[in-house]
Amino acid sequence: MTPPDRTQAGPLYHQIRTHLQEAIEGRQLTPGDRVPSERELTEQFSVSRMTARQALRELEMQGYLYRVQGKGTFVAQPKFVQPLGRLTSFTQDMRRRGLEPGAVVLAVEETAAGRHVAEALKIGPDSPVFRLERLRLANGEPMALEAAHVDARLCPGLLSARFENSSLYQVLQDRFGIRLGHASQSLEAVAARTYEATMLHVREGAPLLLIERTTLGEADRPVEFVRSLYRGDRYRFMAELQSPLSPLG
Ligand code: GLP
Repeated sequence: MTPPDRTQAGPLYHQIRTHLQEAIEGRQLTPGDRVPSERELTEQFSVSRMTARQALRELEMQGYLYRVQGKGTFVAQPKFVQPLGRLTSFTQDMRRRGLEPGAVVLAVEETAAGRHVAEALKIGPDSPVFRLERLRLANGEPMALEAAHVDARLCPGLLSARFENSSLYQVLQDRFGIRLGHASQSLEAVAARTYEATMLHVREGAPLLLIERTTLGEADRPVEFVRSLYRGDRYRFMAELQSPLSPLG
């Protein structure tokens, strides 16, 4: 690697970060490869240890690198690119990528909707909902924590399904004839709290993507309200945008 150009504008850590990032994107460094340590970068680029640390830390936060205690820093698997604008299930998304979807069921119960969920599902706060909380896995690796609330009147007995290895959307369709047609979804950044960090195998404070989805069935009747926390180091969300001026817009 070439040393950073000190005549170039921008902080030095930024230049080191760009060097490493380009090496990863250009596949000179591939997943599992060890990247130079702080000390090695310090020598290689004649920068301070702080500068080297900052560059590595940023790449780690962005999901390019991961650290193994006592072993070093390594190139991470590329992030999943998740298109926004298509109503798919976790199971479908994983299968499309050739991965085995899985789940650890953390909670499953029938409960009263409560104000927030009731608003999303357009039901009364005392109306019954099924709450299903799962840790979602891809080839055994934790990807997301999801808490789904489904209007219980639409699918009596839903919770008898084995959600360790079945898709909620599939069960809704096959057992209850519910066809999901439309959803509204919001996306925002949050920092992992202790419990979430432990479950998702990330550090406390690591970036997560909080997604709230309300999914509608026939006649636009709300069926589920889901709160998901996706790992920020494993996911990149993608949307196609259309200019309002274009003929298709
Ligand atoms: C995605 C969505 C959730 C939805 C889930 C259903 O993860 N973010 O809102 O509830 O898919 O997944 P499955 O049908 O695999 O249980």
